Amino acid sequence: MCGITGFVGSDGAIQIALESLKRLEYRGYDSVGVAYPQNNHIAVVRSAGKINRLLDRLDGEVPDVAVAIAHTRWATHGQPTEANAHPHRDCSGELAVAHNGIIENYDPLRDELQRMGHRFSSETDTEVLPHLIEHYLSKTSDLVEAVRLSLRRVEGSYAIAVVSTRYPGGVIVARKDSPLVIGLAEGSKLIASDIPAVLPYVKDVLILEDGDVAAITPETVTLSDISGKAVHRSPTRVGWRIEEAEKGGYSHYMLKEIHEEPAAVRNALRGRIYNDRIKLEGIPITPAEWRRFERVEIVACGTAYHAGLLGKRLIEQLIRVPTEAVVASEFRYSDPLVDEKTLVLLISQSGETADTLAAMREAKQRGAYTLAIVNVMGSTLAREAGGVIYTQAGPEIGVASTKAYLAQLVVIHLLAIHWAQQIGAPSMGDGASCSVLVNELKRLPELVAGVLQGEPCIKSLADRLADRSCFIYLGRGYDFAAAMEAALKLKEISYIHAEAYAAGEMKHGPLALIEPGVVVIGLATQPLTNAKLWSNLKEVKARNGTVVVVHTEGEAVQGGSDYQIPIPSASPSLMPAIAMVPLQLLAYHIANARGCQIDQPRNLAKSVTVE
Ligand code: M6R
Repeated sequence: MCGITGFVGSDGAIQIALESLKRLEYRGYDSVGVAYPQNNHIAVVRSAGKINRLLDRLDGEVPDVAVAIAHTRWATHGQPTEANAHPHRDCSGELAVAHNGIIENYDPLRDELQRMGHRFSSETDTEVLPHLIEHYLSKTSDLVEAVRLSLRRVEGSYAIAVVSTRYPGGVIVARKDSPLVIGLAEGSKLIASDIPAVLPYVKDVLILEDGDVAAITPETVTLSDISGKAVHRSPTRVGWRIEEAEKGGYSHYMLKEIHEEPAAVRNALRGRIYNDRIKLEGIPITPAEWRRFERVEIVACGTAYHAGLLGKRLIEQLIRVPTEAVVASEFRYSDPLVDEKTLVLLISQSGETADTLAAMREAKQRGAYTLAIVNVMGSTLAREAGGVIYTQAGPEIGVASTKAYLAQLVVIHLLAIHWAQQIGAPSMGDGASCSVLVNELKRLPELVAGVLQGEPCIKSLADRLADRSCFIYLGRGYDFAAAMEAALKLKEISYIHAEAYAAGEMKHGPLALIEPGVVVIGLATQPLTNAKLWSNLKEVKARNGTVVVVHTEGEAVQGGSDYQIPIPSASPSLMPAIAMVPLQLLAYHIANARGCQIDQPRNLAKSVTVE
């Protein structure tokens, strides 16, 4: 989704703002712009398309100024044109605003401002902001106060950056329901929607919270709330390394992030296992409280939801508490059965997904205990949930979630085992005890690393299958959860139609789709149900579908298959983490063979901050 960056210093502001903006490209965008004070007005340069087109507009001559804000827009209100690109100016051309989020009451505000004589030049909701600020500047000479007065009129979500000739050496920013951080350096400050954008320049950041307004100069950050009351926030030291947020020789972030999976799993485990007991900081739940939960609702979107599907099974198996996994956009409007005895577990890589945030707030309102599994430190979900467990996977830039998924699976295991240990739950139905699972978790990084070695075989399989137009993923139990994720991975980056079914459902309808050319990928890693799966695959083979099987090494492949992907064996609940590695690689190499834009697939954004 949209990204904001900015620089306040002594020189090089546009260059730095645009370099930071490039580090936000992964969020997805369709137009771009920059604004800076110059000769008593605010200059704005914008373009439809990518950042390089904006650089063409600047004719390679980037003015050397001390202050600039920049923006990538992902169109919501109005086409992705130059006129609709941010920043937007007021009538006088003396101030400009870049905005992420949605102004929900922009229609009446626009009418009101037009009646007062303000002229609009875009179709966006954002443009009401510079005009509102301009309006309030006729009532106060204090720009920060004019920004506050304007924001009090606004309904919806925003992160904004404002440059003005009235504040030539600085920038004013504010946030509500959309992330914004300020990077702190001696003699300069950066602003950005996300930490990776400022990583090359600073180690300490101020993470703004909802309602914060900040007046930023090269030396100072003055924080207040929307009513003008002073606010204090402590800086956060960022533990991520810059190399983690760069491609490091890989052709795509997605490929790099798949190769980082052994490290992501190791990091997710780091500092959390002591003598086979799981210690989780950030969840102030006592053993008595763990016993009190009568239901669990796991709420998330996309890949994180698929991790939740695995969580449902694992928690029910280990804890024997009824658990549901629900997509966040459905949860909020379903009048959910949630009360003080419900644990609502929210899973999100970004911690900024609007649907998940809305669900968390709904759950809180109904009295549930909310616990978040999040990757991005200091994100809204992490701050607002009752407790947080970080996945510690490092920055994930590719739109397709890969290493974050594996880290989510690990953290779900840690959480379930921790819960079982807190309440002294007996071993799982299939005999696996917590200590067996803990030992297998410790082995997981090396198992994942081993599977990565098979990439050349996966690539040659991808080359053979890249021209197919229909993929069906089948699995049972934990394998079904993995099949859902594998199908999403393929469809979002290769644009091939891919669906997942619980394998037993094939005969109830989807089997009609099978004909020569259709690829069926069967996951056969669950001893309890493998025999049934082989029969399901036999039915596909009999109808001349192409069958690929992901199976545990040493297990005889039955039912006839065209291609096999062997993976090492582990406890059933950990098999999706292992099976996903070749399936992510398969999706990647198919998309690459088809020449797709892998890190920024069409129509998609990394962080979906609208409902
Ligand atoms: O940041 P989140 O984990 O909350 O994002 C949720 C989904 O938008 C995300 O997983 C999406 O489905 C990915 N593109 C999947 O690869």
